Amino acid sequence: MNIGFLASHQGSNMQSVVEACRDGGLAADPAVLICNNRQAKVVARAKQQGIPAYVLNAKTHADPDELDRAMLDALREQACDMIVLAGFMKKIGPRVLKAFAGRIVNIHPSLLPKYGGRGMYGRRVHEAVLSSGDAVTGVTIHLVNGEYDEGRILAQCEVPVLPGDTVDTLAARVLEREHSFLVETLVEIVTGRLRLRGD
Ligand code: GRF
Repeated sequence: MNIGFLASHQGSNMQSVVEACRDGGLAADPAVLICNNRQAKVVARAKQQGIPAYVLNAKTHADPDELDRAMLDALREQACDMIVLAGFMKKIGPRVLKAFAGRIVNIHPSLLPKYGGRGMYGRRVHEAVLSSGDAVTGVTIHLVNGEYDEGRILAQCEVPVLPGDTVDTLAARVLEREHSFLVETLVEIVTGRLRLRGD
């Protein structure tokens, strides 16, 4: 299973998956990173790990269809079998969506459908959880369609909200859980216990 990562920022989730691939915990290979932001830490991480990294965005491809095509070319060049969105801040184009239908997963730092959708990312998610007074938040891994944070939910796990939590403490607790949960869920997918399509 060759995994293509799409990410925009730190890439800590990509890193945890790459480590699981390298230490044998996950029977998959990190095949490529596509990032929209040249300065993002995830690009440096990919290079350090020897993973081909492509920076593709509206500057490299002004026409959205050309950008979509370039992303698909990169994924095919690196023989990707599935795509993991790990903090990717852009919508996926129709060509990539069609070519990888049912083989694109996203990780989101809340219990969707709570605190998802357009504009609900990063600290905003945890701010919303804290202002709601929820005692529990979590992590969702779901299939990707053309909309933000929609698509069939594949797996969820809970993370407690603790008294005195700030956005920073809650975000750190959820992110730490994301790292293990993403690997656990990919193991389920790669071993066929969790089916992405046809079910
Ligand atoms: C994670 O919280 C993920 O759930 C969300 O974006 C963040 C990415 O973090 N989609 P990182 O770049 O993997 O560190």
